[in-house]
Amino acid sequence: MPIPVLFEGRLSIPAIAAPMFIVSGPELVLAACKAGVVGTFPVVNARSYELLDQWLGDISTELDAARAGNSNRTIAPHGVNLVVHKTNVRLEKDLELTVKHKVPVVVTSVGNPGDIATSIHAYGGIVFHDVTNIRHAQKAAAAGVDGLILVCGGAGGHAGTMNPFALVRQVREFFDGTIILSGCISDGAGIRAAEALGADLAYLGTRFIATEESLAPDGYKAMLVEAEASDIIYTPAISGIPANFIRQSLEQAGLDPDNLPPTPKIDMAEELDPDAGKAWKDIWSAGEGIGSIHDLPSTTDLIARLKNEYWDAVDLKPGVRSHSGPLRPRAWSSD
Ligand SMILES: Cc1cc2nc3c(=O)[nH]c(=O)nc-3n(C[C@H](O)[C@H](O)[C@H](O)COP(=O)(O)O)c2cc1C
Repeated sequence: MPIPVLFEGRLSIPAIAAPMFIVSGPELVLAACKAGVVGTFPVVNARSYELLDQWLGDISTELDAARAGNSNRTIAPHGVNLVVHKTNVRLEKDLELTVKHKVPVVVTSVGNPGDIATSIHAYGGIVFHDVTNIRHAQKAAAAGVDGLILVCGGAGGHAGTMNPFALVRQVREFFDGTIILSGCISDGAGIRAAEALGADLAYLGTRFIATEESLAPDGYKAMLVEAEASDIIYTPAISGIPANFIRQSLEQAGLDPDNLPPTPKIDMAEELDPDAGKAWKDIWSAGEGIGSIHDLPSTTDLIARLKNEYWDAVDLKPGVRSHSGPLRPRAWSSD
């Protein structure tokens, strides 16, 4: 089932490059989409409405031109992330620009997606909502979203704590929309494993921080290559909401990872302002998939590698490719 019609024939692998605060911008989005992976960014990464208007216009224009230049090329649709929490003062204007530019994929997080789903559906866009547990998944499904992003334990950013084996199987029992699995997927085998579990698409964040096009500072990228899964610390002490951070970056910011300060009050204004505070900007987040990251390739090279790894994992027998075999998914090309 439910690969959205919008994605059919437009993905090279069943994957989304997840939106990441401060990290994802137009270059990463364009490189991912041109390689057949849905590229996304949080709207707040554009620090003003004027800049967001420009980014959205530029992304559409460049992807349309790439499609027009070669109709056989597999080019994925792009997307944005909107925080739909009622305290987000930017939401109304950001939504207006999302509708103006008819952004194909909208990832909603923190709040009720129902209110904006109608506006997105009106122009043919689709809405995927971030959830970390069954109750939130049921609420979002009832609100009429097209897909649920199951953010599981070990994910980068505001991770959940549930095991993907439990969450995917339980959500599949009541939701027949698109299921997107998020957390620790850093290679093509992981993308294939997400499908085997019953998800339709894999959602990769941390792996895309370590690319040439990501906006992360060089020190952050180098830390991703060096750090291990055991360096990931899950704590609410940085932003008030539990999230995963790299031990070495906590130390670099003068904090003792074994004796972190008390949990602060959640400050949505700070959470949505790329220039505010130390959280995210100086204290760097990553998921436990960090242990599989050993290099800083271009996004194009990374996706080519993910594609090879994915097809290797589809093999029915060791060493035998099964591109036309029964496990071959329908929606993306093996070219
Ligand atoms: C540095 C960083 C920033 C993130 N910022 C956002 C964000 O602004 N909005 C959002 O919906 N998710 C955000 N996430 C979560 C990702 O979209 C995604 O769910 C997660 O990275 C997937 O897990 P992985 O990193 O283990 O692949 C962020 C993750 C990271 C690592």
